[in-house]
Amino acid sequence: MAWNQRSNAPEPGTVICRLQELEDGKGREFTFSEDGFPFSMFIVRKAELIRAYVNECPHTGIPLNWSPDEFTSEDGSLIICSTHGALFELDDGYCSFGPCTGDHLEQVPLEVDGEEVKIGGSS
Ligand code: FES
Repeated sequence: MAWNQRSNAPEPGTVICRLQELEDGKGREFTFSEDGFPFSMFIVRKAELIRAYVNECPHTGIPLNWSPDEFTSEDGSLIICSTHGALFELDDGYCSFGPCTGDHLEQVPLEVDGEEVKIGGSS
C-alpha cells in the first residue's frame, strides 16, 4: 500500500520538524497516531542529503529500529534494519545487503522550506 494511503499518513505540507533537529549521520522517527493504526516514518540526514522512509522493513514488514531513532550504520552512510541487518542506501532506500537485497524502503516525499522540513507533494 502506498505510504499516503495508510491510516494516519501526514498530508502534504505537514511540518515534520526543523532542519536543525536532524543530526548529521543519524535518523529520527516520527509517528502519527490520531486514530487507529499509527503511521511511523523516519528521516535520515547525511550532510545535505535528507530523506524520509516508511518505518517498515521490506523483509518482514516490521519496523527497522529496536531503539528510538536507531536507523543508521555506525558511520551514518547506510540505513540498517536491526532485526536481520539489511542495509539500505540513504539516497533511494535500495537494499544492497541482507535478506531483502534488491527491494526498496518506501520513500516519503519531503520538502525543505527554509528551516522547516515538510511532507512534499501538492497540498
Ligand atoms: S526484518 Fe529487516 S532484515 Fe529482516
